[in-house]
Amino acid sequence: MSVLSIGQIVYDLIVELDGFPFENRKYSVDHFIETGGGPASNAAFLLAKWGTNTSLCGRVGHDLYGDRILSEFHAVKADTSLIKAINGAETSLSLVLVNKKNGSRTIINRKNKDSDINVDFDSVQNYPKIILFDGHELGASLAAKLAFPDAVTVLDAGSVRIGTLELAPLSDYFICSEKFALEYCNIENLDISKDTHKVFHKLKGLTSGKIAVTLGERGLIYETEEGAVHMSAFSTDAVDTTGAGDIFHGAFTYGLLQGFPFEENLKFASLTSAISVEKPGGRSSIPELSEVIKKFKKLTGSDIFEVSIPFI
Ligand SMILES: Nc1ncnc2c1ncn2[C@@H]1O[C@H](COP(=O)(O)OP(=O)(O)OP(=O)(O)O)[C@@H](O)[C@H]1O
Ligand SMILES: [Mg+2]
Repeated sequence: MSVLSIGQIVYDLIVELDGFPFENRKYSVDHFIETGGGPASNAAFLLAKWGTNTSLCGRVGHDLYGDRILSEFHAVKADTSLIKAINGAETSLSLVLVNKKNGSRTIINRKNKDSDINVDFDSVQNYPKIILFDGHELGASLAAKLAFPDAVTVLDAGSVRIGTLELAPLSDYFICSEKFALEYCNIENLDISKDTHKVFHKLKGLTSGKIAVTLGERGLIYETEEGAVHMSAFSTDAVDTTGAGDIFHGAFTYGLLQGFPFEENLKFASLTSAISVEKPGGRSSIPELSEVIKKFKKLTGSDIFEVSIPFI
């Protein structure tokens, strides 16, 4: 196995509207986008779609959504043997309202019960090179870290919760959302020129891993030897930003496996998510790997594989 992805497995019902809905109105649409979702789950889907040997660990219910999620993963040849189907539980479900005018996504999630799932990692034959966490399924995440201590770890920290806080010190790459940074640093808005130093100072107390903070259409801030710097997002005509961060983490993990240097890898992941926001849907907007490589060369002038350093 190359990547073990552990976290929240969700089924998304995505509704795209020409604006944000008003209270007490009726709206009609041609269709809902019905698809699997969830941070580590979407990242795992990208990795499997791009031909990486990927296993996903998390939970679903014994229901229609759970069945659909498993078949979607089987279609891209991901390993689902570490997904626990819980008797009597419902699969986590999200209603996603997308404003096509600016691509914003508003999510209402019915979450899982919090009790840990029991995963026997000792029976797993292949040692993963990378473990990707999203802060959900903390028990399984800690068990995986114990079972595979030499695996490189990536954390997608979407919000401040016990899972992200406990996994942060165990992460080699800590890539959090703006939401996490605002909550953790107790600030209302992140002004790139004013707050970057303060944010990195605070986050460095949480993890000794490499840090980046994604900022949606404003791009991201990340660490260099000389301090934290800003990387702009690629310019897009966004119609649906659902899953942009998940896709970013999936592409970043792919790049890590290929040995792309940190800064180039952040750019590669940014480009992958920028391409995705121009198409409807979360998972359905994941581009082909060949498209990303071609656009990367066109926009940056360099062949990403030529700068890579072979991974462990
Ligand atoms: N509108 C956009 N235009 C261009 N790039 C974008 C846009 N939105 C997101 N991205 C790219 O995707 C990356 C991750 O997006 P973002 O920071 O919104 O993730 P997030 O907050 O984790 O969201 P989620 O996980 O819910 O998708 C950004 O750093 C940026 O590179
Ligand atoms: Mg995210």
